[in-house]
Amino acid sequence: MAKDTLSITDNRTGQSYEVPVSLGTIKAMDLRQVKVDAEDFGLMTYDPAFMNTAACKSAITFIDGDKGILRYRGYPIEQLAERASFLEVAYLLAEGELPTAAELEKWKSDITYHTYVHTNIIKFLEGFRYDAHPMGMLLGVVGALSTFYPDAKNIHDPANRYLQRVRLMAKIPTIAAFLFRHSRGLPYEFPRNDLDYIGNFVNMTFSIGGQHQANPVLQRALEILLILHADHEQNCSTSAVRAVGSSGVDPFSAISAGIAALYGPLHGGANEAVLKMLDEIGEKKNIPAFIESVKAGKGRLMGFGHRVYKSYDPRAKLIKRVADDVFRETGLNPKLDIALELERIALEDDYFISRKLYPNVDFYSGLIYQAMGYPTEYFTVLFALGRMPGWLAQWEEMLLDKEQKIARPRQIYTGSGERPFVEIGKRG
Ligand code: CMC
Repeated sequence: MAKDTLSITDNRTGQSYEVPVSLGTIKAMDLRQVKVDAEDFGLMTYDPAFMNTAACKSAITFIDGDKGILRYRGYPIEQLAERASFLEVAYLLAEGELPTAAELEKWKSDITYHTYVHTNIIKFLEGFRYDAHPMGMLLGVVGALSTFYPDAKNIHDPANRYLQRVRLMAKIPTIAAFLFRHSRGLPYEFPRNDLDYIGNFVNMTFSIGGQHQANPVLQRALEILLILHADHEQNCSTSAVRAVGSSGVDPFSAISAGIAALYGPLHGGANEAVLKMLDEIGEKKNIPAFIESVKAGKGRLMGFGHRVYKSYDPRAKLIKRVADDVFRETGLNPKLDIALELERIALEDDYFISRKLYPNVDFYSGLIYQAMGYPTEYFTVLFALGRMPGWLAQWEEMLLDKEQKIARPRQIYTGSGERPFVEIGKRG
């Protein structure tokens, strides 16, 4: 008769153990009973980069990397991208259900009420060099918000957590738009409460002299991109938010750690890296040589590959459709040809096929952002804008999870054993 347990025999001692299997997982702590003698610390698992370790239980996002499935709270990403607004998705991620009309109205109006930032934020921005990377500014400014809202430390009060979540959702478009204006030397454009979330952000970035001709196709395209980025379970930045948040720090500080993680070129920074790569390739005729250099280990094909997806990233599929809509409005981005050809060649090449490397969300998103008028260094800020609801939902879930404690991995010490201190004159 089948049992939901795992039998382990320790060949060092000949002893056997039976540990429960639940949800396809054994508890690493159940291995601690496996000891060679009473003094032994007990067996640990070694899993650098968390390749096979679940750090939490989560009811937010489901991914099947082999089948290319992504769902938020059970809803397929394709349906949300087609039919939901970004704020509906943000509500869904946080609350677990799609909002009713009244709930959505309240959520929107709470967010609209909090879009302004303290004007001292502008003084911080003025302290940054004209060419400061916007992600460096973003993580600094979001971290600094914790000093404006010391009440955010009260993380065990649900009403207080809600207020801070609203503040972060409301203020990140304003901050992101201010960074954009700072980099261009443009005066800051303040939030307008008569516009919706996306319209207000676009207005704050592109408006000149208070005037901006809104383009509904481009605004919806941006909204879809934000929806596609809204959550992706335990990725690097979300894990950073959870780990930092597990110390009990306020959400502004925890989210700023997530922004730092997102900045890296292997994570959200890949959208910027893709455009730089396309610039370097320059022309279609250079693609075969570029692919050969990647295969020889001289760099990566940015925007390709994923820790979880071992088939086509469903977000990348949807993004290609968004690209069609956008380029119909803006005219073709000349680099699209190079990207399409790169994809075609890579998908036929055994190096990429055997490693199951497919385009990910970042492969085409940069081309769209560029066509919309955003500069390359700004792309990851747009990713952060999209990921905010996911970070917040995961932070809240972590705090409410009774099984969670402060994140504190173990290590295998490989350094020297004890040795006596050596005076400086006797060293070397
Ligand atoms: N180009 C060339 N080779 C690659 C690539 C790539 N983009 N990605 C993985 N490989 C190779 C890698 O060299 C390794 O080969 P080998 O087995 O011969 O050593 C094999 O594929 C497995 O790679 P890995 O580094 O063990 O895979 P990982 O799961 O640790 O890394 C990744 C995932 C996303 C960091 C990686 O695929 C990568 O660096 N991609 C390029 C950066 C990128 O596009 N990042 C965005 C990810 S999606 C959005 C997000 O999360 O922000």
